[in-house]
Amino acid sequence: MQITSFKQYEEDYKKSVENPEQFWGEVAQNFQWRKPWYKVLSWNFKDPEIKWFEGAKLNITENCLDRHLAANGDKPSIIWEPNNTEEESVTYTYKMLHERVCRFANVLKRNGAKKGDRICIYMPMVPELAIAVLACARIGAVHSVIFGGFSAKSIADRINDSQCKLVITADGAYRGNKQIPLKEVIDDALIGCPTVEKCIVLTHVRTPVSMLKGRDVWWEDEVKHVNDICEAEEMDAEDMLFILYTSGSTGKPKGVVHTCGGYMVYAGYTFTNVFNYKPGEVYFCTADIGWITGHSYIVYGPLSQGATSVLFEGIPTYPNPSRFWDIIEKHKVNTLYTAPTAIRSLMSFGEEPLIGKDLSSIRVLGSVGEPINEEAWHWFDEKIGHGKAPLVDTWWQTETGGIMISPIATVTPTKPGFATLPLPGIQPILVDEHGKEIEGNGISGNLCIKFPWPGMLRTTYGDHERCKQTYFSTYENLYFTGDGCLRDEDGYYRITGRVDDVLNVSGHRIGTAEVENAINMHAGVVESAVVGYPHDVKGQGIYAFVINPEMHGEAELTKKDILQTVTRVIGAIAKPDKILFVSGLPKTRSGKIMRRILRKIAEGDTGNLGDTSTLLDPAVVDEIIEAAKKQ
Ligand code: WT7
Repeated sequence: MQITSFKQYEEDYKKSVENPEQFWGEVAQNFQWRKPWYKVLSWNFKDPEIKWFEGAKLNITENCLDRHLAANGDKPSIIWEPNNTEEESVTYTYKMLHERVCRFANVLKRNGAKKGDRICIYMPMVPELAIAVLACARIGAVHSVIFGGFSAKSIADRINDSQCKLVITADGAYRGNKQIPLKEVIDDALIGCPTVEKCIVLTHVRTPVSMLKGRDVWWEDEVKHVNDICEAEEMDAEDMLFILYTSGSTGKPKGVVHTCGGYMVYAGYTFTNVFNYKPGEVYFCTADIGWITGHSYIVYGPLSQGATSVLFEGIPTYPNPSRFWDIIEKHKVNTLYTAPTAIRSLMSFGEEPLIGKDLSSIRVLGSVGEPINEEAWHWFDEKIGHGKAPLVDTWWQTETGGIMISPIATVTPTKPGFATLPLPGIQPILVDEHGKEIEGNGISGNLCIKFPWPGMLRTTYGDHERCKQTYFSTYENLYFTGDGCLRDEDGYYRITGRVDDVLNVSGHRIGTAEVENAINMHAGVVESAVVGYPHDVKGQGIYAFVINPEMHGEAELTKKDILQTVTRVIGAIAKPDKILFVSGLPKTRSGKIMRRILRKIAEGDTGNLGDTSTLLDPAVVDEIIEAAKKQ
């Protein structure tokens, strides 16, 4: 199923559009099924209802582990690179990983977990995180991984939304020279989580934690009570595999639901093609398993293809900004898949951290999560790829399950700043604000997808209506991505960023409404409005306009308090970069905040604010501009 020439890409693409069922049916033959499907696809975008590989039975862990054992059991599956450089890296062969997953799957069963139960995972980037994820899949439990940067309240909201029965965590996590007390955060969260019966705790940083009798058990003790034989649960292709919460423009984060069959096929197919993965190569994705990139391109995609995947616990700049380059040299990494924000941050240290580092193993480079600016693209291409490694700018979303628009390494000619062309099976269209298709090349519009693909979300957990409203109602019969997009004269796609109230801060997706709600929880805050502004390293920074009448000249203290509130309510990743106290916000007569104006002010572009005639009180704008200038 690997595409090796541009001609083949064109042929496959054509076939995938003209005869999608035949195309995906053939791709799916490259996976192991317990029972075949009787129908490749049934769908409508109205409800929406999407079913891939109907009637088929499988277990994704048999595809990620068991099927590699005979020929490649001794091949490395995961290479773990710890945060602390004094510690040794650890290599798990496929045989070892299989053994650990089966053993931990038995631990889950021993603690009452069954097929269909939801299990929350809040862990550091250690091999046991991948083991926990795969062990859930092994027994048919649904994992909901929560990124280590989220607060107790965020965790509790997510656990309650999906009524998790079990939590898997660790005493703590390392993050550069910091430690995150994961178990303590979980303890706070679980005060408000009546559905959680058991909590399994891995020892990692060896910080003292309190263990609640009857609820909390140690990972290390539990694995001693079980053996390592665990037959995989037979799953329906459309059974739920996992939930992953993500932010939108309104309300609380939604639980994006992915199912077993289609997700597996799509993650595996896109992994092998986009990165042109060759057996024996070492692949390194720097994302966190708390995000979709880690699910699809550290765990399921690579392992389903028998690849060797590097799992890195640390951050790019600890103990120094040579960290990535040292890992590449040490493990002879062939593919590096990272985020523009990391590239920009490393770029800022100049070339010194690269001196003497052997990067000759690098064959393919990848970028994900946000638009990559040309300067970062060229730096990555020249300094890391030495101009010889194809750089794939991969556009996709939590909801799409896998890469959608991207070059295929060694096949698609690249162009800086462009995600280039849709992968086979993906039918993008650009529409105007009324949903009318904008045809031809050299045009811009809102990016939609008009035909299903196997990796797409099926629902949002517990609220199908919300899935329909968010993705399938803006434009009739289309999946709306929320992104703006340009299609140039060559038919190449460039993603220009979100057109809704969703921010992308260091590749992390944050809803402006969520940040506003958090700020408003601070006593004294009357109202707030949050917008994004261009940030050199993060891509977008968070700018908060806050009405707070009770300041009494304590602006700095109040700002600190607000930051603390946001950290407590959402997590440190959502902390505003700038807070501006104002006496009013620009609103329409119907009371709607005009964010367009605030965005302009945040960007420092106040020359042309556009039409302000619908404002209730135009004077407030001048006042905000003056305040912003003084800041
Ligand atoms: C949003 C999805 C994809 C996994 C990580 C983020 C933006 C993603 C690109 C890219 C420009 C990109 C979009 C998208 N985005 N990749 N290559 N070029 N923008 O997943 O948290 O679901 O965020 O990230 O705006 O909608 P996510």
